[in-house]
Amino acid sequence: MSMIVQISDLHVSDPDSPSDRIVRQADRLARAVAWINRLRPQPDLVLASGDLVDQCRRSEYERLKAELADLRAPIRLMVGNHDDRDHLRAVFDDHDYLPDGPFVHYTVDHLDVRVIALDSQIPGEIGGELCARRLAWLEARLAEETAKPTIVALHHPPFPGGIEKMDAHSLIRGGPALESLLARAGQVVRVVAGHVHRPFTAMFGGRLAMTCPSTSHQIAFDIERQDGVAIMDEPAQALLHLYRPASGLVTHLLPIGDHPVLVDVKLD
Ligand SMILES: [Fe+2]
Repeated sequence: MSMIVQISDLHVSDPDSPSDRIVRQADRLARAVAWINRLRPQPDLVLASGDLVDQCRRSEYERLKAELADLRAPIRLMVGNHDDRDHLRAVFDDHDYLPDGPFVHYTVDHLDVRVIALDSQIPGEIGGELCARRLAWLEARLAEETAKPTIVALHHPPFPGGIEKMDAHSLIRGGPALESLLARAGQVVRVVAGHVHRPFTAMFGGRLAMTCPSTSHQIAFDIERQDGVAIMDEPAQALLHLYRPASGLVTHLLPIGDHPVLVDVKLD
């Protein structure tokens, strides 16, 4: 059995910065960390699928590291459009899986389900891409392990969710090539992303593809608006990817927080 909790779009900002005063992202992350710490069993891994900080500042990564210090489970960090690769590597220099080189991509190979974490960032842009180099890296990773159930993770969803301004700034290049790679990779059981701050699910390359909401603020479900998006104080949620050999990979969407038991029901 393997259990991976996916969190996304933490957007940790500096204390008393304009967004910190409105959203309090670090406080919300602290609630998420406490919630994960209460999960039974404990996850084998926490995967944070990008936008770890809000303004690409080194000081924000230092605050993020302090917030994550209480997390009991091991965590793997990915980059999104709000991230700075060099600051991430410098502050999390004890995270040995973070590679040198132009892209922050890596695999997780020690669980029953494999994770291939991609880097879809275009520095300075909201939208993302998978360029030829990154697609070649993914193709090589897929070829080296064809039997193990595999999750492919990237920050920018390669499929539209219907919210116009988010779709326009999702994976803007490399999507069709990714789709054809996945269509040939039968071991891929899930494609997961973040970025859109709400959950939606579709088929992509013949695989079940889904987005993970934010630990902080969500983006309104509004498929008619064309001039922007609204930031919502909707409940924080996370994805829990549970792999058991008999049932394969099952993904749960779970609310983050302390929710009381109403009635405890015993069943035979
Ligand atoms: Fe985000």
